[in-house]
Amino acid sequence: MHAALFLWQLWVAQPVGNAACAPCHAGELERHARSGHGRALRPAAVADHLQGLTRAEANGTRYRYPAGNRVEITKGGQSMQAVFDWAFGSGLYGITYVGQREGRWVEHRLTYYLDSKTADFTPGHRRSPPATLEDALGVRQSVADARRCFGCHATGVQPGDDATGPDLKQMTPGVQCERCHGPGAAHVKAPTAKNVLNPGRFPARQQVLICGECHRTPPAQNASREPELDDPLSVRFQPVGLMASNCFQKSGKLSCLTCHDAHDAPQRQKAAFYDAKCVGCHEGTGSKLRRAAQCKPDCVSCHMPKSTPVPHLTFTDHRIRAY
Ligand code: HEC
Ligand code: HEC
Ligand code: HEC
Ligand code: HEC
Ligand code: HEC
Ligand code: HEC
Ligand code: HEC
Repeated sequence: MHAALFLWQLWVAQPVGNAACAPCHAGELERHARSGHGRALRPAAVADHLQGLTRAEANGTRYRYPAGNRVEITKGGQSMQAVFDWAFGSGLYGITYVGQREGRWVEHRLTYYLDSKTADFTPGHRRSPPATLEDALGVRQSVADARRCFGCHATGVQPGDDATGPDLKQMTPGVQCERCHGPGAAHVKAPTAKNVLNPGRFPARQQVLICGECHRTPPAQNASREPELDDPLSVRFQPVGLMASNCFQKSGKLSCLTCHDAHDAPQRQKAAFYDAKCVGCHEGTGSKLRRAAQCKPDCVSCHMPKSTPVPHLTFTDHRIRAY
Protein backbone atom coordinates (compact mmCIF):
# COMPACT_ATOMS: atom_id res chain seq x y z
CA MET A 1 0.00 0.00 0.00
CA HIS A 2 1.65 3.25 -1.03
CA ALA A 3 0.73 6.85 -0.39
CA ALA A 4 -1.08 7.35 -3.72
CA LEU A 5 -3.49 4.53 -2.96
CA PHE A 6 -4.07 6.01 0.45
CA LEU A 7 -5.06 9.32 -1.09
CA TRP A 8 -7.41 7.56 -3.46
CA GLN A 9 -9.35 6.17 -0.51
CA LEU A 10 -10.45 9.68 0.24
CA TRP A 11 -12.79 9.60 -2.75
CA VAL A 12 -14.26 6.09 -2.37
CA ALA A 13 -14.91 5.94 1.36
CA GLN A 14 -18.53 5.62 2.40
CA PRO A 15 -17.92 5.97 6.11
CA VAL A 16 -19.81 3.71 8.51
CA GLY A 17 -18.92 6.30 11.14
CA ASN A 18 -16.94 6.30 14.40
CA ALA A 19 -19.89 4.97 16.40
CA ALA A 20 -19.56 1.65 14.57
CA CYS A 21 -16.04 1.22 16.03
CA ALA A 22 -17.08 2.10 19.58
CA PRO A 23 -18.10 -1.33 20.89
CA CYS A 24 -14.60 -2.76 20.32
CA HIS A 25 -12.17 0.20 20.36
CA ALA A 26 -13.44 2.47 23.14
CA GLY A 27 -9.91 3.61 24.08
CA GLU A 28 -9.09 5.00 20.60
CA LEU A 29 -12.51 6.61 20.45
CA GLU A 30 -12.08 8.38 23.77
CA ARG A 31 -8.60 9.72 22.95
CA HIS A 32 -9.59 10.73 19.44
CA ALA A 33 -12.54 12.71 20.78
CA ARG A 34 -10.22 15.07 22.67
CA SER A 35 -7.65 15.50 19.86
CA GLY A 36 -7.75 18.09 17.10
CA HIS A 37 -8.39 15.56 14.31
CA GLY A 38 -11.98 14.75 15.23
CA ARG A 39 -12.98 18.42 15.28
CA ALA A 40 -10.85 19.73 12.41
CA LEU A 41 -14.10 20.71 10.66
CA ARG A 42 -17.52 21.47 12.14
CA PRO A 43 -20.75 23.08 11.00
CA ALA A 44 -20.23 26.76 11.91
CA ALA A 45 -23.58 26.93 13.69
CA VAL A 46 -22.43 24.44 16.34
CA ALA A 47 -18.71 25.29 16.72
CA ASP A 48 -18.74 26.20 20.40
CA HIS A 49 -15.55 28.32 20.45
CA LEU A 50 -17.13 30.79 18.04
CA GLN A 51 -19.50 31.93 20.77
CA GLY A 52 -16.61 34.03 22.07
CA LEU A 53 -16.46 35.89 18.75
CA THR A 54 -18.72 38.96 18.63
CA ARG A 55 -16.96 41.73 16.71
CA ALA A 56 -13.74 42.78 15.03
CA GLU A 57 -12.30 45.68 13.05
CA ALA A 58 -9.70 45.54 10.29
CA ASN A 59 -8.62 48.19 7.80
CA GLY A 60 -11.61 50.43 8.52
CA THR A 61 -14.03 47.55 7.98
CA ARG A 62 -16.26 46.53 10.88
CA TYR A 63 -17.28 42.92 11.39
CA ARG A 64 -20.09 41.78 13.64
CA TYR A 65 -20.91 38.14 14.38
CA PRO A 66 -24.50 38.04 15.65
CA ALA A 67 -24.71 34.22 15.61
CA GLY A 68 -22.35 31.24 15.27
CA ASN A 69 -22.47 31.20 11.48
CA ARG A 70 -23.36 34.78 10.45
CA VAL A 71 -21.27 37.85 9.75
CA GLU A 72 -22.33 41.48 9.14
CA ILE A 73 -19.84 43.77 7.44
CA THR A 74 -19.88 47.58 7.45
CA LYS A 75 -17.48 49.68 5.40
CA GLY A 76 -17.81 53.31 4.32
CA GLY A 77 -21.54 53.49 5.10
CA GLN A 78 -22.34 50.30 3.16
CA SER A 79 -23.10 46.97 4.73
CA MET A 80 -23.79 43.34 3.88
CA GLN A 81 -24.60 40.05 5.59
CA ALA A 82 -23.36 36.56 4.86
CA VAL A 83 -23.80 33.06 6.25
CA PHE A 84 -20.88 30.64 6.55
CA ASP A 85 -21.73 26.96 6.80
CA TRP A 86 -18.34 25.62 7.89
CA ALA A 87 -15.83 26.27 10.66
CA PHE A 88 -12.33 24.93 9.84
CA GLY A 89 -10.01 24.24 12.78
CA SER A 90 -10.69 22.43 16.04
CA GLY A 91 -10.22 25.47 18.22
CA LEU A 92 -6.81 24.39 19.50
CA TYR A 93 -5.18 27.14 17.42
CA GLY A 94 -7.66 28.97 15.24
CA ILE A 95 -10.95 28.76 13.40
CA THR A 96 -11.59 29.95 9.84
CA TYR A 97 -15.03 30.27 8.26
CA VAL A 98 -15.66 28.85 4.80
CA GLY A 99 -18.96 29.06 2.92
CA GLN A 100 -20.59 29.33 -0.47
CA ARG A 101 -21.65 32.53 -2.19
CA GLU A 102 -23.33 32.36 -5.56
CA GLY A 103 -22.01 28.87 -6.09
CA ARG A 104 -18.39 29.75 -5.26
CA TRP A 105 -16.47 28.75 -2.14
CA VAL A 106 -15.19 31.67 -0.08
CA GLU A 107 -12.66 31.67 2.79
CA HIS A 108 -13.39 34.42 5.33
CA ARG A 109 -10.87 37.25 5.56
CA LEU A 110 -10.62 36.95 9.33
CA THR A 111 -9.77 33.95 11.50
CA TYR A 112 -10.68 33.57 15.16
CA TYR A 113 -7.47 32.89 17.12
CA LEU A 114 -7.59 31.08 20.41
CA ASP A 115 -4.37 32.60 21.81
CA SER A 116 -5.88 36.08 21.91
CA LYS A 117 -9.56 35.16 21.55
CA THR A 118 -9.83 37.79 18.83
CA ALA A 119 -10.31 37.75 15.07
CA ASP A 120 -7.37 38.80 12.90
CA PHE A 121 -6.34 38.28 9.28
CA THR A 122 -6.51 34.73 7.96
CA PRO A 123 -2.99 33.42 7.18
CA GLY A 124 -2.07 34.19 3.59
CA HIS A 125 -4.67 36.94 3.12
CA ARG A 126 -3.64 40.43 2.04
CA ARG A 127 -3.58 42.99 4.83
CA SER A 128 -4.21 45.92 2.46
CA PRO A 129 -7.65 47.59 2.58
CA PRO A 130 -10.30 45.66 0.62
CA ALA A 131 -11.73 47.37 -2.47
CA THR A 132 -15.28 46.07 -2.08
CA LEU A 133 -17.52 44.52 0.55
CA GLU A 134 -17.09 41.15 -1.15
CA ASP A 135 -13.31 41.52 -0.83
CA ALA A 136 -13.77 42.40 2.82
CA LEU A 137 -15.79 39.21 3.24
CA GLY A 138 -13.10 36.89 1.96
CA VAL A 139 -11.15 35.25 -0.83
CA ARG A 140 -12.80 33.05 -3.43
CA GLN A 141 -11.40 29.54 -3.65
CA SER A 142 -10.88 27.61 -6.86
CA VAL A 143 -12.71 24.30 -7.11
CA ALA A 144 -9.36 22.53 -6.66
CA ASP A 145 -8.60 24.49 -3.48
CA ALA A 146 -12.04 23.83 -2.00
CA ARG A 147 -11.59 20.09 -2.67
CA ARG A 148 -8.24 20.19 -0.91
CA CYS A 149 -9.58 22.06 2.14
CA PHE A 150 -12.37 19.56 2.74
CA GLY A 151 -10.15 16.63 1.77
CA CYS A 152 -7.69 17.39 4.59
CA HIS A 153 -10.25 18.37 7.22
CA ALA A 154 -13.00 15.79 6.66
CA THR A 155 -13.87 12.16 5.88
CA GLY A 156 -15.78 10.72 2.92
CA VAL A 157 -15.57 13.83 0.70
CA GLN A 158 -16.29 13.13 -3.00
CA PRO A 159 -14.59 15.23 -5.69
CA GLY A 160 -17.88 16.45 -7.23
CA ASP A 161 -17.97 18.07 -10.67
CA ASP A 162 -15.67 20.79 -11.93
CA ALA A 163 -18.30 23.52 -11.75
CA THR A 164 -19.38 23.16 -8.12
CA GLY A 165 -16.42 21.39 -6.51
CA PRO A 166 -16.45 19.01 -3.53
CA ASP A 167 -19.56 16.88 -3.05
CA LEU A 168 -20.27 16.80 0.69
CA LYS A 169 -23.33 14.52 0.70
CA GLN A 170 -21.51 11.57 2.28
CA MET A 171 -19.06 13.67 4.25
CA THR A 172 -18.48 13.37 7.98
CA PRO A 173 -16.75 16.56 9.17
CA GLY A 174 -13.34 16.07 10.83
CA VAL A 175 -10.50 13.56 10.39
CA GLN A 176 -12.40 10.51 11.63
CA CYS A 177 -11.40 6.86 12.06
CA GLU A 178 -11.92 5.84 8.44
CA ARG A 179 -9.98 8.78 7.03
CA CYS A 180 -6.83 7.04 8.30
CA HIS A 181 -7.99 3.40 8.47
CA GLY A 182 -9.95 3.19 5.22
CA PRO A 183 -13.58 2.11 4.71
CA GLY A 184 -14.70 0.19 7.80
CA ALA A 185 -17.86 -1.66 6.71
CA ALA A 186 -16.24 -5.07 6.04
CA HIS A 187 -14.11 -4.92 9.22
CA VAL A 188 -17.10 -4.02 11.41
CA LYS A 189 -19.03 -7.03 10.08
CA ALA A 190 -16.19 -9.55 10.52
CA PRO A 191 -13.19 -7.93 12.23
CA THR A 192 -9.75 -9.20 11.29
CA ALA A 193 -6.41 -7.42 11.02
CA LYS A 194 -6.56 -7.96 7.23
CA ASN A 195 -9.65 -5.95 6.32
CA VAL A 196 -8.66 -2.65 7.90
CA LEU A 197 -5.76 -0.35 7.08
CA ASN A 198 -3.28 0.10 9.93
CA PRO A 199 -0.58 2.72 9.21
CA GLY A 200 1.29 1.30 12.22
CA ARG A 201 2.30 -1.71 10.10
CA PHE A 202 4.16 0.32 7.47
CA PRO A 203 7.89 1.16 7.47
CA ALA A 204 8.80 4.50 9.10
CA ARG A 205 9.14 6.45 5.86
CA GLN A 206 5.73 5.29 4.63
CA GLN A 207 4.18 6.30 7.95
CA VAL A 208 5.57 9.79 7.62
CA LEU A 209 4.17 10.03 4.09
CA ILE A 210 0.73 8.96 5.31
CA CYS A 211 0.66 11.77 7.89
CA GLY A 212 2.28 14.00 5.27
CA GLU A 213 -0.69 13.66 2.97
CA CYS A 214 -2.22 16.42 5.11
CA HIS A 215 0.68 17.72 7.22
CA ARG A 216 2.64 18.15 3.95
CA THR A 217 5.78 16.53 2.59
CA PRO A 218 9.02 17.91 1.13
CA PRO A 219 9.20 19.02 -2.55
CA ALA A 220 10.18 15.68 -4.12
CA GLN A 221 7.01 14.05 -2.81
CA ASN A 222 4.57 16.72 -3.92
CA ALA A 223 3.57 17.68 -7.42
CA SER A 224 2.83 21.29 -6.58
CA ARG A 225 2.83 23.97 -3.91
CA GLU A 226 5.47 22.16 -1.91
CA PRO A 227 6.70 23.83 1.24
CA GLU A 228 10.42 24.72 1.08
CA LEU A 229 12.65 23.67 3.95
CA ASP A 230 14.26 27.07 4.42
CA ASP A 231 11.01 29.00 4.44
CA PRO A 232 10.26 29.88 8.10
CA LEU A 233 6.62 29.01 7.37
CA SER A 234 7.62 25.38 6.77
CA VAL A 235 7.85 24.88 10.52
CA ARG A 236 4.11 24.20 10.38
CA PHE A 237 4.72 21.28 8.01
CA GLN A 238 6.20 18.80 10.49
CA PRO A 239 7.11 16.05 7.97
CA VAL A 240 9.26 18.50 5.98
CA GLY A 241 11.44 19.24 8.99
CA LEU A 242 11.52 15.73 10.35
CA MET A 243 12.56 14.18 7.02
CA ALA A 244 15.43 16.67 6.75
CA SER A 245 16.92 15.71 10.10
CA ASN A 246 19.73 13.22 10.56
CA CYS A 247 17.69 11.38 13.18
CA PHE A 248 15.24 10.41 10.43
CA GLN A 249 17.67 9.93 7.57
CA LYS A 250 20.35 7.97 9.39
CA SER A 251 18.21 5.84 11.72
CA GLY A 252 15.67 4.70 9.11
CA LYS A 253 13.35 4.14 12.07
CA LEU A 254 12.07 7.52 13.17
CA SER A 255 8.46 8.38 12.27
CA CYS A 256 5.64 10.53 13.57
CA LEU A 257 4.45 7.52 15.55
CA THR A 258 7.72 7.38 17.53
CA CYS A 259 6.50 10.42 19.48
CA HIS A 260 2.77 10.76 18.70
CA ASP A 261 -0.35 8.75 19.27
CA ALA A 262 -2.32 9.69 16.14
CA HIS A 263 -5.44 9.53 18.31
CA ASP A 264 -4.31 12.01 20.96
CA ALA A 265 -3.12 15.60 21.41
CA PRO A 266 0.70 15.95 21.73
CA GLN A 267 0.47 18.68 24.36
CA ARG A 268 -0.74 16.11 26.84
CA GLN A 269 2.80 14.69 27.14
CA LYS A 270 5.43 15.99 29.58
CA ALA A 271 9.09 16.72 28.76
CA ALA A 272 10.18 13.39 30.26
CA PHE A 273 8.02 11.53 27.75
CA TYR A 274 9.93 13.04 24.81
CA ASP A 275 13.30 12.68 26.60
CA ALA A 276 12.73 8.94 26.78
CA LYS A 277 12.16 8.84 23.00
CA CYS A 278 15.42 10.70 22.30
CA VAL A 279 17.44 8.71 24.80
CA GLY A 280 16.02 5.53 23.30
CA CYS A 281 18.39 6.14 20.38
CA HIS A 282 20.92 8.55 21.91
CA GLU A 283 22.36 6.36 24.60
CA GLY A 284 24.90 4.41 22.59
CA THR A 285 28.60 4.75 23.02
CA GLY A 286 29.03 5.43 19.29
CA SER A 287 30.40 8.96 19.10
CA LYS A 288 27.68 10.18 16.73
CA LEU A 289 24.81 9.08 18.94
CA ARG A 290 26.31 10.27 22.20
CA ARG A 291 24.99 13.56 23.51
CA ALA A 292 27.12 16.59 24.26
CA ALA A 293 28.08 17.35 27.84
CA GLN A 294 25.69 20.30 28.05
CA CYS A 295 22.70 18.15 27.11
CA LYS A 296 20.33 18.29 30.06
CA PRO A 297 16.77 16.97 30.38
CA ASP A 298 13.99 18.52 28.28
CA CYS A 299 15.80 17.73 25.00
CA VAL A 300 13.07 19.22 22.83
CA SER A 301 13.40 22.69 24.42
CA CYS A 302 16.83 23.03 22.73
CA HIS A 303 16.61 20.63 19.78
CA MET A 304 12.99 21.19 18.72
CA PRO A 305 12.40 24.86 19.54
CA LYS A 306 9.06 26.61 19.10
CA SER A 307 8.44 29.52 16.75
CA THR A 308 5.57 31.72 15.62
CA PRO A 309 6.00 32.08 11.82
CA VAL A 310 2.67 33.88 11.41
CA PRO A 311 0.94 35.94 14.09
CA HIS A 312 -1.03 33.85 16.62
CA LEU A 313 0.20 30.41 15.47
CA THR A 314 3.04 28.66 17.31
CA PHE A 315 4.65 25.48 16.00
CA THR A 316 7.41 23.07 17.02
CA ASP A 317 10.41 22.75 14.73
CA HIS A 318 10.56 19.10 13.76
CA ARG A 319 13.98 19.42 12.13
CA ILE A 320 15.87 17.91 15.06
CA ARG A 321 19.40 19.33 15.18
CA ALA A 322 21.85 21.38 17.22
CA TYR A 323 20.73 24.98 16.69
C1 HEC B 1 -16.93 -6.13 16.63
C2 HEC B 1 -15.69 -5.58 17.13
C3 HEC B 1 -14.95 -4.59 16.22
C4 HEC B 1 -15.44 -3.47 15.61
C5 HEC B 1 -16.89 -2.96 15.58
C6 HEC B 1 -14.31 -2.81 15.00
N1 HEC B 1 -13.17 -3.54 15.23
FE1 HEC B 1 -11.29 -3.04 14.70
N2 HEC B 1 -10.58 -4.78 15.45
C7 HEC B 1 -11.34 -5.71 16.11
C8 HEC B 1 -10.52 -6.88 16.44
C9 HEC B 1 -10.99 -8.13 17.14
C10 HEC B 1 -9.22 -6.57 15.95
C11 HEC B 1 -7.97 -7.45 16.04
C12 HEC B 1 -7.93 -8.31 14.81
C13 HEC B 1 -6.76 -9.28 14.84
O1 HEC B 1 -5.75 -8.99 15.50
O2 HEC B 1 -6.90 -10.31 14.19
C14 HEC B 1 -9.30 -5.24 15.36
C15 HEC B 1 -8.21 -4.57 14.82
C16 HEC B 1 -8.27 -3.26 14.34
C17 HEC B 1 -7.12 -2.53 13.89
C18 HEC B 1 -5.67 -3.02 13.90
C19 HEC B 1 -5.42 -3.88 12.70
C20 HEC B 1 -4.02 -4.47 12.73
O3 HEC B 1 -3.25 -4.21 11.81
O4 HEC B 1 -3.72 -5.20 13.67
C21 HEC B 1 -7.59 -1.33 13.47
C22 HEC B 1 -6.76 -0.18 12.89
C23 HEC B 1 -9.01 -1.32 13.68
N3 HEC B 1 -9.39 -2.50 14.20
C24 HEC B 1 -9.83 -0.24 13.37
C25 HEC B 1 -11.21 -0.27 13.45
C26 HEC B 1 -12.07 0.80 13.01
C27 HEC B 1 -11.59 2.09 12.37
C28 HEC B 1 -13.36 0.42 13.28
C29 HEC B 1 -14.63 1.17 12.96
C30 HEC B 1 -14.82 1.51 11.53
C31 HEC B 1 -13.30 -0.89 13.90
N4 HEC B 1 -11.99 -1.26 13.97
C32 HEC B 1 -14.40 -1.62 14.31
C33 HEC B 1 -12.68 -5.62 16.42
C34 HEC B 1 -13.53 -4.63 15.97
C1 HEC C 1 -6.74 13.73 6.50
C2 HEC C 1 -5.72 14.68 6.89
C3 HEC C 1 -4.80 14.32 8.03
C4 HEC C 1 -4.02 13.18 8.18
C5 HEC C 1 -3.91 11.99 7.24
C6 HEC C 1 -3.29 13.37 9.41
N1 HEC C 1 -3.63 14.57 9.99
FE1 HEC C 1 -2.93 15.28 11.76
N2 HEC C 1 -4.13 16.94 11.56
C7 HEC C 1 -4.92 17.21 10.47
C8 HEC C 1 -5.62 18.46 10.69
C9 HEC C 1 -6.59 19.12 9.73
C10 HEC C 1 -5.21 18.93 11.96
C11 HEC C 1 -5.64 20.23 12.63
C12 HEC C 1 -6.69 19.97 13.65
C13 HEC C 1 -7.06 21.28 14.34
O1 HEC C 1 -7.73 22.09 13.73
O2 HEC C 1 -6.67 21.45 15.49
C14 HEC C 1 -4.26 17.95 12.48
C15 HEC C 1 -3.62 18.02 13.72
C16 HEC C 1 -2.67 17.12 14.19
C17 HEC C 1 -1.97 17.22 15.44
C18 HEC C 1 -2.13 18.32 16.47
C19 HEC C 1 -3.53 18.23 16.99
C20 HEC C 1 -3.71 18.14 18.45
O3 HEC C 1 -4.63 17.38 18.86
O4 HEC C 1 -3.03 18.86 19.19
C21 HEC C 1 -1.12 16.15 15.52
C22 HEC C 1 -0.15 15.81 16.62
C23 HEC C 1 -1.30 15.38 14.32
N3 HEC C 1 -2.26 15.99 13.54
C24 HEC C 1 -0.58 14.23 14.03
C25 HEC C 1 -0.82 13.41 12.93
C26 HEC C 1 -0.14 12.17 12.68
C27 HEC C 1 0.93 11.57 13.57
C28 HEC C 1 -0.65 11.68 11.51
C29 HEC C 1 -0.28 10.39 10.81
C30 HEC C 1 -0.50 9.17 11.56
C31 HEC C 1 -1.65 12.60 11.05
N4 HEC C 1 -1.73 13.64 11.93
C32 HEC C 1 -2.39 12.43 9.90
C33 HEC C 1 -5.08 16.44 9.35
C34 HEC C 1 -4.52 15.19 9.16
C1 HEC D 1 -2.98 19.53 2.60
C2 HEC D 1 -3.97 19.47 3.66
C3 HEC D 1 -4.66 20.74 4.11
C4 HEC D 1 -5.35 21.64 3.33
C5 HEC D 1 -5.52 21.64 1.82
C6 HEC D 1 -5.93 22.60 4.24
N1 HEC D 1 -5.57 22.30 5.53
FE1 HEC D 1 -6.06 23.36 7.19
N2 HEC D 1 -4.79 22.23 8.30
C7 HEC D 1 -4.13 21.12 7.85
C8 HEC D 1 -3.29 20.59 8.93
C9 HEC D 1 -2.41 19.36 8.83
C10 HEC D 1 -3.46 21.45 10.03
C11 HEC D 1 -2.79 21.33 11.41
C12 HEC D 1 -1.38 21.77 11.38
C13 HEC D 1 -1.30 23.21 11.08
O1 HEC D 1 -1.82 24.00 11.85
O2 HEC D 1 -0.71 23.54 10.04
C14 HEC D 1 -4.42 22.47 9.60
C15 HEC D 1 -4.88 23.51 10.41
C16 HEC D 1 -5.88 24.40 10.06
C17 HEC D 1 -6.47 25.37 10.94
C18 HEC D 1 -6.13 25.59 12.42
C19 HEC D 1 -5.38 26.86 12.58
C20 HEC D 1 -4.07 26.82 11.92
O3 HEC D 1 -3.93 27.53 10.89
O4 HEC D 1 -3.22 26.06 12.37
C21 HEC D 1 -7.41 26.06 10.21
C22 HEC D 1 -8.29 27.20 10.68
C23 HEC D 1 -7.41 25.51 8.87
N3 HEC D 1 -6.45 24.50 8.81
C24 HEC D 1 -8.22 25.93 7.82
C25 HEC D 1 -8.11 25.53 6.50
C26 HEC D 1 -8.85 26.09 5.40
C27 HEC D 1 -9.93 27.17 5.51
C28 HEC D 1 -8.42 25.47 4.27
C29 HEC D 1 -8.80 25.74 2.83
C30 HEC D 1 -8.84 27.16 2.42
C31 HEC D 1 -7.42 24.50 4.68
N4 HEC D 1 -7.25 24.56 6.04
C32 HEC D 1 -6.74 23.66 3.83
C33 HEC D 1 -4.22 20.55 6.60
C34 HEC D 1 -4.78 21.18 5.50
C1 HEC E 1 -4.92 10.67 11.94
C2 HEC E 1 -5.03 9.29 11.59
C3 HEC E 1 -5.84 8.37 12.48
C4 HEC E 1 -7.13 8.54 12.89
C5 HEC E 1 -8.06 9.70 12.63
C6 HEC E 1 -7.47 7.36 13.64
N1 HEC E 1 -6.40 6.51 13.69
FE1 HEC E 1 -6.33 4.67 14.57
N2 HEC E 1 -4.37 4.51 14.12
C7 HEC E 1 -3.63 5.43 13.41
C8 HEC E 1 -2.25 5.02 13.37
C9 HEC E 1 -1.12 5.78 12.72
C10 HEC E 1 -2.17 3.80 14.08
C11 HEC E 1 -0.92 2.95 14.36
C12 HEC E 1 -0.40 3.30 15.71
C13 HEC E 1 0.89 2.62 16.02
O1 HEC E 1 1.12 1.50 15.55
O2 HEC E 1 1.68 3.23 16.75
C14 HEC E 1 -3.52 3.49 14.51
C15 HEC E 1 -3.87 2.35 15.23
C16 HEC E 1 -5.18 2.01 15.56
C17 HEC E 1 -5.58 0.76 16.17
C18 HEC E 1 -4.64 -0.37 16.54
C19 HEC E 1 -4.15 -0.12 17.92
C20 HEC E 1 -3.08 -1.05 18.37
O3 HEC E 1 -2.89 -1.07 19.58
O4 HEC E 1 -2.45 -1.69 17.54
C21 HEC E 1 -6.93 0.83 16.36
C22 HEC E 1 -7.81 -0.24 16.98
C23 HEC E 1 -7.38 2.12 15.87
N3 HEC E 1 -6.28 2.80 15.40
C24 HEC E 1 -8.68 2.56 15.90
C25 HEC E 1 -9.08 3.84 15.56
C26 HEC E 1 -10.41 4.35 15.78
C27 HEC E 1 -11.56 3.57 16.38
C28 HEC E 1 -10.42 5.64 15.33
C29 HEC E 1 -11.54 6.66 15.40
C30 HEC E 1 -12.00 6.98 16.74
C31 HEC E 1 -9.09 5.92 14.81
N4 HEC E 1 -8.31 4.81 14.99
C32 HEC E 1 -8.70 7.14 14.23
C33 HEC E 1 -4.11 6.57 12.82
C34 HEC E 1 -5.38 7.11 12.99
C1 HEC F 1 15.11 6.46 15.94
C2 HEC F 1 16.35 6.91 16.58
C3 HEC F 1 16.47 8.38 16.94
C4 HEC F 1 15.63 9.12 17.73
C5 HEC F 1 14.31 8.69 18.36
C6 HEC F 1 16.24 10.42 17.87
N1 HEC F 1 17.42 10.46 17.18
FE1 HEC F 1 18.71 12.03 17.08
N2 HEC F 1 19.84 11.04 15.73
C7 HEC F 1 19.70 9.72 15.38
C8 HEC F 1 20.73 9.36 14.43
C9 HEC F 1 20.93 7.99 13.81
C10 HEC F 1 21.49 10.53 14.22
C11 HEC F 1 22.67 10.70 13.27
C12 HEC F 1 23.97 10.32 13.92
C13 HEC F 1 25.06 10.40 12.88
O1 HEC F 1 25.35 11.50 12.43
O2 HEC F 1 25.54 9.33 12.50
C14 HEC F 1 20.93 11.56 15.07
C15 HEC F 1 21.42 12.86 15.16
C16 HEC F 1 21.04 13.78 16.13
C17 HEC F 1 21.65 15.09 16.36
C18 HEC F 1 22.79 15.67 15.57
C19 HEC F 1 22.11 16.47 14.50
C20 HEC F 1 22.89 16.77 13.27
O3 HEC F 1 22.37 17.59 12.51
O4 HEC F 1 23.94 16.17 13.04
C21 HEC F 1 20.97 15.66 17.39
C22 HEC F 1 21.22 17.03 17.98
C23 HEC F 1 19.94 14.73 17.81
N3 HEC F 1 20.00 13.61 17.02
C24 HEC F 1 19.06 14.96 18.85
C25 HEC F 1 17.92 14.19 19.08
C26 HEC F 1 16.86 14.56 19.99
C27 HEC F 1 16.88 15.79 20.86
C28 HEC F 1 15.90 13.59 19.90
C29 HEC F 1 14.56 13.57 20.59
C30 HEC F 1 13.72 14.75 20.36
C31 HEC F 1 16.38 12.61 18.96
N4 HEC F 1 17.57 13.00 18.49
C32 HEC F 1 15.69 11.45 18.63
C33 HEC F 1 18.70 8.86 15.84
C34 HEC F 1 17.61 9.23 16.61
C1 HEC G 1 11.06 13.19 18.27
C2 HEC G 1 9.70 13.40 18.65
C3 HEC G 1 8.70 13.86 17.60
C4 HEC G 1 8.49 13.31 16.35
C5 HEC G 1 9.22 12.16 15.69
C6 HEC G 1 7.37 14.03 15.78
N1 HEC G 1 6.94 14.98 16.66
FE1 HEC G 1 5.35 16.22 16.39
N2 HEC G 1 5.73 17.13 18.18
C7 HEC G 1 6.75 16.77 19.04
C8 HEC G 1 6.76 17.69 20.16
C9 HEC G 1 7.73 17.68 21.32
C10 HEC G 1 5.68 18.60 19.95
C11 HEC G 1 5.24 19.75 20.85
C12 HEC G 1 4.35 19.23 21.96
C13 HEC G 1 3.92 20.34 22.91
O1 HEC G 1 3.71 21.47 22.47
O2 HEC G 1 3.76 20.03 24.09
C14 HEC G 1 5.05 18.21 18.68
C15 HEC G 1 3.97 18.86 18.14
C16 HEC G 1 3.34 18.49 16.96
C17 HEC G 1 2.14 19.12 16.40
C18 HEC G 1 1.41 20.31 16.99
C19 HEC G 1 1.83 21.60 16.27
C20 HEC G 1 3.26 21.98 16.54
O3 HEC G 1 4.04 22.07 15.56
O4 HEC G 1 3.62 22.24 17.71
C21 HEC G 1 1.85 18.47 15.23
C22 HEC G 1 0.73 18.78 14.28
C23 HEC G 1 2.84 17.41 15.07
N3 HEC G 1 3.72 17.44 16.13
C24 HEC G 1 2.87 16.54 14.00
C25 HEC G 1 3.90 15.64 13.76
C26 HEC G 1 4.03 14.85 12.54
C27 HEC G 1 3.06 14.90 11.39
C28 HEC G 1 5.15 14.09 12.68
C29 HEC G 1 5.80 13.20 11.64
C30 HEC G 1 6.28 13.90 10.48
C31 HEC G 1 5.73 14.39 13.98
N4 HEC G 1 4.96 15.34 14.59
C32 HEC G 1 6.87 13.79 14.51
C33 HEC G 1 7.62 15.73 18.89
C34 HEC G 1 7.72 14.91 17.77
C1 HEC H 1 20.27 23.44 27.07
C2 HEC H 1 20.10 23.03 25.71
C3 HEC H 1 20.21 21.55 25.39
C4 HEC H 1 19.47 20.52 25.95
C5 HEC H 1 18.38 20.63 27.01
C6 HEC H 1 19.88 19.32 25.26
N1 HEC H 1 20.86 19.61 24.34
FE1 HEC H 1 21.73 18.28 23.07
N2 HEC H 1 22.93 19.75 22.37
C7 HEC H 1 22.89 21.08 22.74
C8 HEC H 1 23.91 21.81 22.02
C9 HEC H 1 24.18 23.30 22.13
C10 HEC H 1 24.59 20.87 21.20
C11 HEC H 1 25.76 21.13 20.25
C12 HEC H 1 27.05 20.85 21.02
C13 HEC H 1 28.27 20.97 20.20
O1 HEC H 1 28.19 21.09 18.98
O2 HEC H 1 29.31 20.90 20.80
C14 HEC H 1 23.93 19.60 21.44
C15 HEC H 1 24.29 18.40 20.80
C16 HEC H 1 23.57 17.21 20.88
C17 HEC H 1 23.84 16.02 20.11
C18 HEC H 1 24.89 15.88 19.02
C19 HEC H 1 26.23 15.61 19.59
C20 HEC H 1 27.27 15.61 18.51
O3 HEC H 1 28.41 15.51 18.88
O4 HEC H 1 26.94 15.71 17.32
C21 HEC H 1 22.95 15.08 20.48
C22 HEC H 1 22.83 13.66 19.95
C23 HEC H 1 22.12 15.68 21.51
N3 HEC H 1 22.51 16.97 21.72
C24 HEC H 1 21.08 15.01 22.15
C25 HEC H 1 20.39 15.55 23.23
C26 HEC H 1 19.44 14.79 24.00
C27 HEC H 1 19.06 13.34 23.77
C28 HEC H 1 18.95 15.64 24.96
C29 HEC H 1 17.99 15.33 26.08
C30 HEC H 1 18.39 14.26 26.98
C31 HEC H 1 19.59 16.93 24.76
N4 HEC H 1 20.45 16.83 23.70
C32 HEC H 1 19.35 18.08 25.52
C33 HEC H 1 21.99 21.64 23.63
C34 HEC H 1 21.08 20.95 24.40
